[in-house]
Amino acid sequence: MIAYRHEPFTDFTKEENKLAFEKGLQIVNDYLGQDYPLIINGERITTEDKIVSINPANKDEVIGYVSKANKELAELAMNSSLRAFETWRKTKPETRADVLFKAAAIIRRRKHEFSALLVKEAGKPWNEADADTAEAIDFMEYYGRQMLEIKDGKRVESRPGEFNRYHYIPLGVSVVISPWNFALAIMAGTTVASMVTGNTVLLKPASTTPVIAAKFVEVLEEAGMPRGVVNYIPGSGSEVGDYLVDHPKTRFISFTGSREVGIRIYERASKVNAGQIWLKRVIAEMGGKDTIVIDKEADLELAAQSIVKSAFGFSGQKCSACSRAVVVEDVYDQVLARAVEITKELTVGNPINLNHFMGPVNDQNAYNKILNYIEIGKQEGKLMVGGHGDDSQGFFIEPTIFADLDPEARIMKEEIFGPVVAFAKAKDFKEAIEIANNTEYGLTGAVISKNREHIDYAREEFHVGNLYFNRGCTGAIVGYQPFGGFNMSGTDSKAGGPDYLLLHMQAKTTSEML
Ligand code: NAD
Ligand code: ALA
Repeated sequence: MIAYRHEPFTDFTKEENKLAFEKGLQIVNDYLGQDYPLIINGERITTEDKIVSINPANKDEVIGYVSKANKELAELAMNSSLRAFETWRKTKPETRADVLFKAAAIIRRRKHEFSALLVKEAGKPWNEADADTAEAIDFMEYYGRQMLEIKDGKRVESRPGEFNRYHYIPLGVSVVISPWNFALAIMAGTTVASMVTGNTVLLKPASTTPVIAAKFVEVLEEAGMPRGVVNYIPGSGSEVGDYLVDHPKTRFISFTGSREVGIRIYERASKVNAGQIWLKRVIAEMGGKDTIVIDKEADLELAAQSIVKSAFGFSGQKCSACSRAVVVEDVYDQVLARAVEITKELTVGNPINLNHFMGPVNDQNAYNKILNYIEIGKQEGKLMVGGHGDDSQGFFIEPTIFADLDPEARIMKEEIFGPVVAFAKAKDFKEAIEIANNTEYGLTGAVISKNREHIDYAREEFHVGNLYFNRGCTGAIVGYQPFGGFNMSGTDSKAGGPDYLLLHMQAKTTSEML
Protein backbone atom coordinates (compact mmCIF):
# COMPACT_ATOMS: atom_id res chain seq x y z
CA MET A 1 0.00 0.00 0.00
CA ILE A 2 1.20 3.51 -0.81
CA ALA A 3 2.30 5.46 2.26
CA TYR A 4 -0.15 8.08 3.49
CA ARG A 5 0.29 11.59 2.06
CA HIS A 6 -2.23 14.36 2.52
CA GLU A 7 -4.49 15.30 -0.35
CA PRO A 8 -3.05 18.29 -2.24
CA PHE A 9 -4.99 21.54 -2.37
CA THR A 10 -6.32 22.80 -5.69
CA ASP A 11 -4.52 25.69 -7.35
CA PHE A 12 -7.32 27.96 -8.55
CA THR A 13 -4.96 30.25 -10.44
CA LYS A 14 -4.94 27.50 -13.07
CA GLU A 15 -7.72 27.95 -15.59
CA GLU A 16 -8.43 24.21 -15.91
CA ASN A 17 -9.00 23.95 -12.15
CA LYS A 18 -11.37 26.92 -12.21
CA LEU A 19 -13.34 25.32 -15.00
CA ALA A 20 -13.46 21.98 -13.19
CA PHE A 21 -14.79 23.71 -10.06
CA GLU A 22 -17.41 25.57 -12.08
CA LYS A 23 -18.57 22.19 -13.40
CA GLY A 24 -18.86 21.05 -9.77
CA LEU A 25 -21.04 24.06 -9.04
CA GLN A 26 -23.20 23.21 -12.02
CA ILE A 27 -23.70 19.64 -10.81
CA VAL A 28 -24.78 20.97 -7.42
CA ASN A 29 -27.09 23.59 -8.97
CA ASP A 30 -28.86 20.77 -10.79
CA TYR A 31 -29.80 19.02 -7.56
CA LEU A 32 -30.66 22.03 -5.40
CA GLY A 33 -33.98 21.84 -3.59
CA GLN A 34 -34.30 18.05 -3.60
CA ASP A 35 -35.69 15.94 -0.76
CA TYR A 36 -33.34 13.95 1.46
CA PRO A 37 -34.86 11.11 3.48
CA LEU A 38 -33.42 9.55 6.62
CA ILE A 39 -31.34 6.43 5.99
CA ILE A 40 -32.03 3.73 8.56
CA ASN A 41 -30.83 0.20 7.88
CA GLY A 42 -30.34 1.27 4.27
CA GLU A 43 -34.02 2.16 3.96
CA ARG A 44 -35.10 5.65 2.93
CA ILE A 45 -37.64 7.14 5.34
CA THR A 46 -39.34 10.40 4.49
CA THR A 47 -40.97 12.46 7.21
CA GLU A 48 -43.37 15.38 6.96
CA ASP A 49 -41.33 17.45 9.34
CA LYS A 50 -38.30 18.84 7.46
CA ILE A 51 -35.10 20.72 8.03
CA VAL A 52 -34.82 23.28 5.24
CA SER A 53 -31.16 23.73 4.43
CA ILE A 54 -30.49 27.13 2.87
CA ASN A 55 -27.53 28.89 1.34
CA PRO A 56 -26.24 31.33 4.00
CA ALA A 57 -25.02 33.65 1.23
CA ASN A 58 -28.41 33.70 -0.45
CA LYS A 59 -31.26 33.00 1.91
CA ASP A 60 -33.73 32.40 -0.92
CA GLU A 61 -31.78 29.45 -2.27
CA VAL A 62 -32.83 26.12 -0.78
CA ILE A 63 -30.11 23.48 -0.79
CA GLY A 64 -32.45 20.69 0.22
CA TYR A 65 -35.45 19.58 2.25
CA VAL A 66 -34.22 17.08 4.77
CA SER A 67 -36.43 14.67 6.66
CA LYS A 68 -36.19 15.06 10.38
CA ALA A 69 -35.87 12.22 12.87
CA ASN A 70 -37.88 12.13 16.07
CA LYS A 71 -37.53 9.87 19.11
CA GLU A 72 -39.40 6.96 17.49
CA LEU A 73 -37.18 7.06 14.40
CA ALA A 74 -34.10 7.44 16.57
CA GLU A 75 -35.18 4.26 18.38
CA LEU A 76 -35.62 2.49 15.03
CA ALA A 77 -32.12 3.60 14.06
CA MET A 78 -30.74 2.41 17.40
CA ASN A 79 -32.21 -1.05 16.81
CA SER A 80 -30.77 -1.13 13.30
CA SER A 81 -27.34 -0.15 14.66
CA LEU A 82 -27.49 -2.79 17.39
CA ARG A 83 -28.29 -5.49 14.82
CA ALA A 84 -25.63 -4.34 12.36
CA PHE A 85 -23.04 -4.29 15.15
CA GLU A 86 -23.33 -8.05 15.58
CA THR A 87 -21.92 -8.69 12.10
CA TRP A 88 -19.88 -5.55 11.53
CA ARG A 89 -17.80 -6.09 14.68
CA LYS A 90 -16.71 -9.47 13.28
CA THR A 91 -16.03 -8.12 9.77
CA LYS A 92 -12.32 -8.22 9.02
CA PRO A 93 -10.53 -4.93 9.69
CA GLU A 94 -9.14 -5.09 6.15
CA THR A 95 -12.69 -5.20 4.74
CA ARG A 96 -13.74 -2.30 6.94
CA ALA A 97 -10.69 -0.28 5.90
CA ASP A 98 -11.46 -1.02 2.25
CA VAL A 99 -14.79 0.79 2.58
CA LEU A 100 -12.85 3.90 3.65
CA PHE A 101 -10.34 3.63 0.81
CA LYS A 102 -13.13 3.19 -1.73
CA ALA A 103 -15.12 6.08 -0.28
CA ALA A 104 -11.99 8.27 -0.42
CA ALA A 105 -11.54 7.35 -4.08
CA ILE A 106 -15.17 8.20 -4.89
CA ILE A 107 -14.94 11.58 -3.16
CA ARG A 108 -11.60 12.30 -4.85
CA ARG A 109 -13.29 11.69 -8.23
CA ARG A 110 -16.18 13.98 -7.27
CA LYS A 111 -14.00 16.38 -5.30
CA HIS A 112 -15.14 19.64 -6.88
CA GLU A 113 -18.78 18.63 -6.62
CA PHE A 114 -18.40 18.05 -2.87
CA SER A 115 -16.50 21.32 -2.45
CA ALA A 116 -19.10 23.16 -4.53
CA LEU A 117 -21.81 21.80 -2.22
CA LEU A 118 -19.82 23.22 0.72
CA VAL A 119 -19.71 26.59 -1.05
CA LYS A 120 -23.48 26.52 -1.30
CA GLU A 121 -24.53 24.87 1.95
CA ALA A 122 -21.81 26.09 4.34
CA GLY A 123 -20.92 29.39 2.63
CA LYS A 124 -17.27 28.42 2.20
CA PRO A 125 -15.00 30.22 -0.23
CA TRP A 126 -13.57 27.89 -2.87
CA ASN A 127 -10.20 27.37 -1.21
CA GLU A 128 -11.76 26.68 2.20
CA ALA A 129 -14.25 24.24 0.66
CA ASP A 130 -11.44 22.52 -1.23
CA ALA A 131 -9.49 22.14 2.04
CA ASP A 132 -12.55 20.72 3.82
CA THR A 133 -13.02 18.07 1.11
CA ALA A 134 -9.29 17.29 1.09
CA GLU A 135 -9.40 16.80 4.87
CA ALA A 136 -12.33 14.38 4.55
CA ILE A 137 -10.32 12.33 2.04
CA ASP A 138 -7.32 12.47 4.39
CA PHE A 139 -9.32 11.15 7.33
CA MET A 140 -10.43 8.15 5.30
CA GLU A 141 -6.99 7.39 3.89
CA TYR A 142 -5.31 7.89 7.27
CA TYR A 143 -7.76 6.01 9.50
CA GLY A 144 -7.97 3.14 7.00
CA ARG A 145 -4.19 2.72 7.28
CA GLN A 146 -4.21 3.20 11.06
CA MET A 147 -6.75 0.39 11.39
CA LEU A 148 -4.48 -1.93 9.46
CA GLU A 149 -1.64 -1.00 11.81
CA ILE A 150 -3.51 -1.73 15.03
CA LYS A 151 -5.59 -4.69 13.88
CA ASP A 152 -3.30 -7.28 15.50
CA GLY A 153 -3.03 -5.44 18.79
CA LYS A 154 0.23 -4.86 20.62
CA ARG A 155 2.93 -7.22 21.79
CA VAL A 156 2.87 -8.30 25.42
CA GLU A 157 5.22 -10.73 27.14
CA SER A 158 4.47 -14.43 27.68
CA ARG A 159 6.19 -16.73 30.19
CA PRO A 160 7.16 -20.30 29.24
CA GLY A 161 4.00 -22.37 28.90
CA GLU A 162 1.64 -19.48 28.37
CA PHE A 163 0.51 -17.45 25.36
CA ASN A 164 -0.64 -13.91 26.04
CA ARG A 165 -2.30 -11.63 23.57
CA TYR A 166 -3.43 -8.02 23.74
CA HIS A 167 -5.74 -6.74 21.07
CA TYR A 168 -8.45 -4.17 20.50
CA ILE A 169 -12.15 -4.84 19.99
CA PRO A 170 -14.93 -2.40 19.09
CA LEU A 171 -17.21 -0.83 21.69
CA GLY A 172 -20.73 -0.92 20.20
CA VAL A 173 -23.20 1.64 18.96
CA SER A 174 -21.85 5.17 18.75
CA VAL A 175 -23.66 8.46 18.43
CA VAL A 176 -21.72 10.82 16.18
CA ILE A 177 -22.78 14.46 16.50
CA SER A 178 -21.02 16.83 14.15
CA PRO A 179 -20.77 20.61 13.61
CA TRP A 180 -21.50 22.70 10.50
CA ASN A 181 -18.13 24.43 10.22
CA PHE A 182 -16.24 21.44 8.79
CA ALA A 183 -19.47 20.03 7.50
CA LEU A 184 -17.75 17.35 5.43
CA ALA A 185 -14.34 16.77 7.04
CA ILE A 186 -15.32 16.51 10.71
CA MET A 187 -18.62 14.77 10.00
CA ALA A 188 -16.86 12.21 7.78
CA GLY A 189 -13.77 11.87 9.98
CA THR A 190 -15.69 11.18 13.18
CA THR A 191 -18.05 8.79 11.37
CA VAL A 192 -15.38 6.70 9.66
CA ALA A 193 -13.17 6.53 12.76
CA SER A 194 -16.04 4.90 14.59
CA MET A 195 -17.03 2.53 11.78
CA VAL A 196 -13.55 1.39 10.74
CA THR A 197 -12.91 0.27 14.31
CA GLY A 198 -15.96 -2.02 14.09
CA ASN A 199 -18.58 0.14 15.76
CA THR A 200 -21.88 1.16 14.25
CA VAL A 201 -22.92 4.77 13.95
CA LEU A 202 -25.98 6.91 14.51
CA LEU A 203 -24.99 10.03 12.61
CA LYS A 204 -26.68 13.28 13.60
CA PRO A 205 -25.22 16.03 11.43
CA ALA A 206 -25.56 19.74 12.16
CA SER A 207 -28.94 21.13 11.21
CA THR A 208 -27.58 23.82 8.87
CA THR A 209 -25.51 21.35 6.82
CA PRO A 210 -27.43 18.07 6.57
CA VAL A 211 -27.30 17.70 2.76
CA ILE A 212 -23.54 17.21 2.51
CA ALA A 213 -23.89 14.51 5.18
CA ALA A 214 -26.61 12.74 3.16
CA LYS A 215 -24.33 12.79 0.10
CA PHE A 216 -21.53 11.34 2.21
CA VAL A 217 -23.65 8.45 3.50
CA GLU A 218 -24.59 7.66 -0.13
CA VAL A 219 -20.87 7.46 -0.89
CA LEU A 220 -20.31 5.02 1.99
CA GLU A 221 -23.08 2.84 0.61
CA GLU A 222 -21.54 2.94 -2.86
CA ALA A 223 -18.21 2.01 -1.28
CA GLY A 224 -19.69 -1.20 0.14
CA MET A 225 -20.78 -0.25 3.64
CA PRO A 226 -23.38 -2.82 4.78
CA ARG A 227 -26.87 -1.69 5.80
CA GLY A 228 -27.25 -0.26 9.27
CA VAL A 229 -23.55 0.38 9.89
CA VAL A 230 -24.09 4.13 9.54
CA ASN A 231 -27.64 5.38 10.02
CA TYR A 232 -28.32 8.94 8.91
CA ILE A 233 -30.67 10.67 11.35
CA PRO A 234 -30.65 14.45 11.14
CA GLY A 235 -32.87 16.10 13.72
CA SER A 236 -33.11 18.51 16.59
CA GLY A 237 -30.13 18.37 18.95
CA SER A 238 -32.30 18.71 21.99
CA GLU A 239 -34.81 16.04 20.90
CA VAL A 240 -32.85 13.36 19.00
CA GLY A 241 -29.49 14.32 20.54
CA ASP A 242 -30.65 14.10 24.15
CA TYR A 243 -32.61 10.91 23.47
CA LEU A 244 -29.63 9.08 22.01
CA VAL A 245 -27.10 10.47 24.49
CA ASP A 246 -29.32 9.18 27.32
CA HIS A 247 -30.07 5.85 25.63
CA PRO A 248 -28.89 2.84 27.68
CA LYS A 249 -27.67 1.04 24.55
CA THR A 250 -25.46 3.92 23.43
CA ARG A 251 -21.88 2.83 24.09
CA PHE A 252 -20.10 6.07 23.27
CA ILE A 253 -20.62 9.54 21.91
CA SER A 254 -18.29 11.33 19.54
CA PHE A 255 -19.20 14.99 19.65
CA THR A 256 -17.67 18.04 18.00
CA GLY A 257 -19.27 21.39 18.65
CA SER A 258 -19.70 24.10 21.23
CA ARG A 259 -18.57 24.06 24.85
CA GLU A 260 -22.15 24.46 26.01
CA VAL A 261 -23.50 21.40 24.17
CA GLY A 262 -20.33 19.40 24.88
CA ILE A 263 -20.76 19.88 28.62
CA ARG A 264 -24.43 18.98 28.41
CA ILE A 265 -23.57 15.73 26.61
CA TYR A 266 -20.75 14.93 29.03
CA GLU A 267 -23.02 15.41 32.04
CA ARG A 268 -25.94 13.45 30.61
CA ALA A 269 -23.73 10.62 29.40
CA SER A 270 -22.31 10.18 32.89
CA LYS A 271 -25.70 9.08 34.24
CA VAL A 272 -26.23 5.33 34.21
CA ASN A 273 -29.79 4.73 33.04
CA ALA A 274 -32.01 1.67 33.57
CA GLY A 275 -30.82 -1.26 31.45
CA GLN A 276 -27.35 0.22 30.89
CA ILE A 277 -24.47 -2.15 31.60
CA TRP A 278 -21.47 0.08 30.88
CA LEU A 279 -20.08 3.52 31.55
CA LYS A 280 -20.45 5.56 28.36
CA ARG A 281 -17.42 7.09 26.80
CA VAL A 282 -17.45 10.64 25.52
CA ILE A 283 -15.08 12.03 22.94
CA ALA A 284 -15.77 15.77 22.94
CA GLU A 285 -14.01 18.37 20.85
CA MET A 286 -15.29 21.81 21.73
CA GLY A 287 -14.62 25.51 21.34
CA GLY A 288 -11.55 27.69 21.43
CA LYS A 289 -10.30 31.20 22.13
CA ASP A 290 -7.15 30.95 20.11
CA THR A 291 -4.29 33.40 20.38
CA ILE A 292 -1.37 34.47 18.23
CA VAL A 293 1.49 35.89 20.32
CA ILE A 294 3.88 38.32 18.64
CA ASP A 295 7.36 38.73 20.06
CA LYS A 296 9.41 41.89 19.57
CA GLU A 297 12.06 39.92 17.68
CA ALA A 298 9.81 38.71 14.89
CA ASP A 299 9.06 38.96 11.20
CA LEU A 300 6.32 41.59 11.58
CA GLU A 301 4.92 41.13 8.09
CA LEU A 302 4.53 37.41 8.76
CA ALA A 303 2.91 38.32 12.09
CA ALA A 304 0.28 40.60 10.53
CA GLN A 305 -0.45 38.18 7.67
CA SER A 306 -0.77 35.23 10.06
CA ILE A 307 -3.20 37.09 12.32
CA VAL A 308 -5.40 38.24 9.43
CA LYS A 309 -5.47 34.88 7.66
CA SER A 310 -6.13 32.91 10.86
CA ALA A 311 -8.75 35.37 12.10
CA PHE A 312 -10.76 35.84 8.93
CA GLY A 313 -10.36 32.63 6.91
CA PHE A 314 -13.88 31.14 6.61
CA SER A 315 -15.14 34.25 8.42
CA GLY A 316 -13.41 33.24 11.66
CA GLN A 317 -15.70 30.21 12.00
CA LYS A 318 -12.99 27.67 12.70
CA CYS A 319 -12.50 26.32 16.20
CA SER A 320 -8.82 27.02 15.48
CA ALA A 321 -9.38 30.65 14.36
CA CYS A 322 -7.28 33.42 15.85
CA SER A 323 -9.58 35.59 17.93
CA ARG A 324 -6.87 37.28 20.02
CA ALA A 325 -3.55 38.82 19.05
CA VAL A 326 -1.27 39.48 21.99
CA VAL A 327 1.62 41.66 20.91
CA VAL A 328 4.70 42.73 22.87
CA GLU A 329 4.48 46.51 23.35
CA ASP A 330 7.66 47.39 21.37
CA VAL A 331 6.04 46.24 18.10
CA TYR A 332 2.33 46.55 18.97
CA ASP A 333 1.56 49.67 16.92
CA GLN A 334 3.38 48.38 13.85
CA VAL A 335 1.70 44.95 13.84
CA LEU A 336 -1.74 46.43 14.51
CA ALA A 337 -1.40 49.03 11.75
CA ARG A 338 -0.28 46.46 9.20
CA ALA A 339 -3.05 44.00 10.17
CA VAL A 340 -5.63 46.77 9.75
CA GLU A 341 -4.14 47.68 6.37
CA ILE A 342 -4.33 44.08 5.09
CA THR A 343 -7.86 43.65 6.46
CA LYS A 344 -9.10 46.71 4.59
CA GLU A 345 -8.16 44.97 1.35
CA LEU A 346 -10.26 41.86 2.05
CA THR A 347 -13.47 41.45 0.15
CA VAL A 348 -16.67 39.93 1.52
CA GLY A 349 -19.44 38.51 -0.63
CA ASN A 350 -21.15 35.45 -2.06
CA PRO A 351 -18.45 32.74 -2.21
CA ILE A 352 -19.81 31.56 -5.54
CA ASN A 353 -17.43 34.26 -6.77
CA LEU A 354 -13.85 33.03 -6.44
CA ASN A 355 -12.53 36.53 -5.83
CA HIS A 356 -14.11 37.05 -2.40
CA PHE A 357 -11.83 36.31 0.51
CA MET A 358 -14.74 35.88 2.91
CA GLY A 359 -18.28 34.58 2.55
CA PRO A 360 -21.19 34.70 4.98
CA VAL A 361 -21.50 33.46 8.55
CA ASN A 362 -23.54 30.36 9.25
CA ASP A 363 -27.06 31.57 9.94
CA GLN A 364 -29.22 34.26 11.53
CA ASN A 365 -28.32 33.11 15.05
CA ALA A 366 -24.60 33.31 14.33
CA TYR A 367 -25.07 36.70 12.64
CA ASN A 368 -26.96 38.13 15.63
CA LYS A 369 -24.51 36.68 18.15
CA ILE A 370 -21.45 38.06 16.34
CA LEU A 371 -22.96 41.52 15.92
CA ASN A 372 -23.82 41.50 19.60
CA TYR A 373 -20.16 40.77 20.41
CA ILE A 374 -19.15 43.60 18.07
CA GLU A 375 -21.30 45.95 20.19
CA ILE A 376 -19.60 44.62 23.32
CA GLY A 377 -16.23 45.14 21.62
CA LYS A 378 -17.10 48.78 20.94
CA GLN A 379 -17.54 49.28 24.69
CA GLU A 380 -14.44 47.32 25.64
CA GLY A 381 -11.90 48.37 23.00
CA LYS A 382 -11.20 50.59 20.03
CA LEU A 383 -12.82 49.60 16.72
CA MET A 384 -10.08 49.78 14.07
CA VAL A 385 -11.79 48.31 11.01
CA GLY A 386 -15.06 46.56 10.11
CA GLY A 387 -17.87 46.35 12.63
CA HIS A 388 -20.85 46.16 10.24
CA GLY A 389 -23.09 43.43 8.97
CA ASP A 390 -25.67 43.06 6.22
CA ASP A 391 -28.25 40.29 6.37
CA SER A 392 -30.51 41.50 3.58
CA GLN A 393 -29.45 38.69 1.20
CA GLY A 394 -27.13 36.50 3.22
CA PHE A 395 -25.41 36.70 6.59
CA PHE A 396 -22.43 38.91 5.83
CA ILE A 397 -20.22 40.54 8.45
CA GLU A 398 -17.12 42.62 7.80
CA PRO A 399 -13.76 41.44 9.11
CA THR A 400 -13.41 43.35 12.34
CA ILE A 401 -10.42 44.34 14.46
CA PHE A 402 -10.59 45.78 17.96
CA ALA A 403 -7.50 47.25 19.62
CA ASP A 404 -6.29 47.97 23.14
CA LEU A 405 -8.25 45.32 24.98
CA ASP A 406 -7.85 44.56 28.63
CA PRO A 407 -6.90 40.86 28.89
CA GLU A 408 -9.97 40.32 31.07
CA ALA A 409 -12.41 41.87 28.57
CA ARG A 410 -15.27 39.66 27.43
CA ILE A 411 -14.19 39.67 23.79
CA MET A 412 -10.78 38.47 25.00
CA LYS A 413 -12.30 35.55 26.88
CA GLU A 414 -15.48 34.33 25.18
CA GLU A 415 -15.68 32.40 21.91
CA ILE A 416 -17.30 34.67 19.30
CA PHE A 417 -16.95 32.30 16.33
CA GLY A 418 -16.97 35.01 13.71
CA PRO A 419 -14.66 37.45 11.91
CA VAL A 420 -13.61 39.41 14.98
CA VAL A 421 -10.11 39.67 16.42
CA ALA A 422 -9.07 41.54 19.56
CA PHE A 423 -5.58 43.02 20.04
CA ALA A 424 -3.99 43.30 23.49
CA LYS A 425 -0.59 44.68 24.47
CA ALA A 426 1.89 42.82 26.69
CA LYS A 427 4.90 44.40 28.40
CA ASP A 428 7.14 41.45 27.49
CA PHE A 429 7.06 37.95 26.04
CA LYS A 430 6.40 36.24 29.36
CA GLU A 431 3.39 38.42 30.03
CA ALA A 432 2.15 37.72 26.49
CA ILE A 433 2.12 33.98 27.20
CA GLU A 434 0.36 34.60 30.52
CA ILE A 435 -2.40 36.50 28.70
CA ALA A 436 -2.60 33.78 26.04
CA ASN A 437 -3.22 31.22 28.80
CA ASN A 438 -5.87 33.23 30.61
CA THR A 439 -8.95 31.57 29.10
CA GLU A 440 -10.68 28.35 30.03
CA TYR A 441 -10.01 27.01 26.55
CA GLY A 442 -6.79 25.49 25.19
CA LEU A 443 -7.21 24.57 21.55
CA THR A 444 -4.71 26.26 19.22
CA GLY A 445 -2.15 29.02 19.48
CA ALA A 446 0.77 30.42 17.56
CA VAL A 447 3.93 32.32 18.37
CA ILE A 448 5.75 34.55 15.91
CA SER A 449 9.30 34.93 17.16
CA LYS A 450 12.92 34.71 16.09
CA ASN A 451 14.10 34.20 19.65
CA ARG A 452 14.99 30.54 20.31
CA GLU A 453 14.69 30.88 24.10
CA HIS A 454 11.22 32.36 23.75
CA ILE A 455 10.16 29.59 21.39
CA ASP A 456 11.35 27.00 23.92
CA TYR A 457 9.60 28.86 26.73
CA ALA A 458 6.32 28.91 24.79
CA ARG A 459 6.68 25.24 23.91
CA GLU A 460 6.55 24.47 27.63
CA GLU A 461 4.26 27.17 28.96
CA PHE A 462 1.68 27.94 26.26
CA HIS A 463 -1.06 25.47 27.23
CA VAL A 464 -2.84 24.53 24.01
CA GLY A 465 -3.33 21.25 22.21
CA ASN A 466 -1.97 22.59 18.89
CA LEU A 467 0.85 25.11 19.11
CA TYR A 468 2.41 26.56 15.97
CA PHE A 469 5.58 28.61 15.54
CA ASN A 470 6.07 31.24 12.85
CA ARG A 471 2.80 30.51 11.08
CA GLY A 472 -0.91 30.99 11.70
CA CYS A 473 -2.97 28.90 14.11
CA THR A 474 -5.39 27.25 11.63
CA GLY A 475 -4.98 24.52 9.05
CA ALA A 476 -3.92 21.36 10.89
CA ILE A 477 -3.36 18.50 8.46
CA VAL A 478 -4.48 14.93 9.17
CA GLY A 479 -1.52 12.72 10.00
CA TYR A 480 0.83 15.71 10.26
CA GLN A 481 -0.62 17.88 13.02
CA PRO A 482 -3.07 15.74 15.04
CA PHE A 483 -5.79 18.07 16.28
CA GLY A 484 -7.47 18.53 19.66
CA GLY A 485 -7.52 20.83 22.65
CA PHE A 486 -7.01 21.05 26.39
CA ASN A 487 -9.30 22.21 29.19
CA MET A 488 -12.73 23.37 27.98
CA SER A 489 -11.68 22.80 24.38
CA GLY A 490 -12.42 19.13 24.89
CA THR A 491 -10.99 15.73 25.63
CA ASP A 492 -7.86 16.29 23.51
CA SER A 493 -8.74 13.33 21.32
CA LYS A 494 -6.26 14.39 18.62
CA ALA A 495 -8.27 13.73 15.47
CA GLY A 496 -6.04 12.69 12.61
CA GLY A 497 -3.42 11.34 14.99
CA PRO A 498 -1.93 7.93 15.79
CA ASP A 499 -3.90 7.45 19.05
CA TYR A 500 -7.31 8.51 17.79
CA LEU A 501 -8.77 5.16 16.73
CA LEU A 502 -7.98 3.58 20.10
CA LEU A 503 -10.50 5.92 21.71
CA HIS A 504 -13.16 4.00 19.79
CA MET A 505 -12.05 0.56 21.01
CA GLN A 506 -11.39 -1.44 24.15
CA ALA A 507 -8.35 -3.59 24.80
CA LYS A 508 -8.79 -7.27 25.56
CA THR A 509 -6.16 -9.47 27.17
CA THR A 510 -6.24 -13.22 26.58
CA SER A 511 -3.92 -15.65 28.30
CA GLU A 512 -3.79 -19.30 27.25
CA MET A 513 -1.83 -22.05 28.99
CA LEU A 514 0.03 -24.14 26.46
P1 NAD B 1 -23.15 23.20 18.42
O1 NAD B 1 -22.65 22.74 19.74
O2 NAD B 1 -24.22 24.21 18.41
O3 NAD B 1 -23.69 21.97 17.58
C1 NAD B 1 -22.89 20.83 17.34
C2 NAD B 1 -23.81 19.64 17.13
O4 NAD B 1 -24.47 19.35 18.35
C3 NAD B 1 -24.90 19.88 16.09
O5 NAD B 1 -25.07 18.70 15.33
C4 NAD B 1 -26.11 20.15 16.95
O6 NAD B 1 -27.32 19.86 16.30
C5 NAD B 1 -25.86 19.19 18.09
N1 NAD B 1 -26.62 19.44 19.32
C6 NAD B 1 -27.17 20.60 19.74
N2 NAD B 1 -27.78 20.39 20.93
C7 NAD B 1 -27.60 19.09 21.26
C8 NAD B 1 -27.99 18.28 22.37
N3 NAD B 1 -28.70 18.74 23.40
N4 NAD B 1 -27.61 16.97 22.36
C9 NAD B 1 -26.89 16.47 21.37
N5 NAD B 1 -26.51 17.19 20.28
C10 NAD B 1 -26.85 18.48 20.23
O7 NAD B 1 -21.86 23.67 17.61
P2 NAD B 1 -21.81 24.25 16.12
O8 NAD B 1 -22.40 25.62 16.16
O9 NAD B 1 -22.33 23.27 15.15
O10 NAD B 1 -20.23 24.34 15.88
C11 NAD B 1 -19.47 25.40 16.34
C12 NAD B 1 -18.74 25.01 17.61
O11 NAD B 1 -18.00 23.83 17.40
C13 NAD B 1 -17.73 26.06 18.02
O12 NAD B 1 -17.78 26.22 19.42
C14 NAD B 1 -16.40 25.45 17.58
O13 NAD B 1 -15.28 25.93 18.29
C15 NAD B 1 -16.66 24.00 17.83
N6 NAD B 1 -15.78 23.14 17.03
C16 NAD B 1 -14.76 22.48 17.67
C17 NAD B 1 -13.88 21.69 16.94
C18 NAD B 1 -12.75 20.96 17.62
O14 NAD B 1 -12.16 20.09 17.00
N7 NAD B 1 -12.42 21.30 18.85
C19 NAD B 1 -14.04 21.59 15.56
C20 NAD B 1 -15.10 22.26 14.95
C21 NAD B 1 -15.97 23.03 15.69
N1 ALA C 1 -8.38 21.28 11.04
C1 ALA C 1 -8.92 22.57 11.27
C2 ALA C 1 -7.86 23.58 11.54
O1 ALA C 1 -6.81 23.23 12.03
C3 ALA C 1 -9.90 22.57 12.41
O2 ALA C 1 -8.06 24.72 11.27
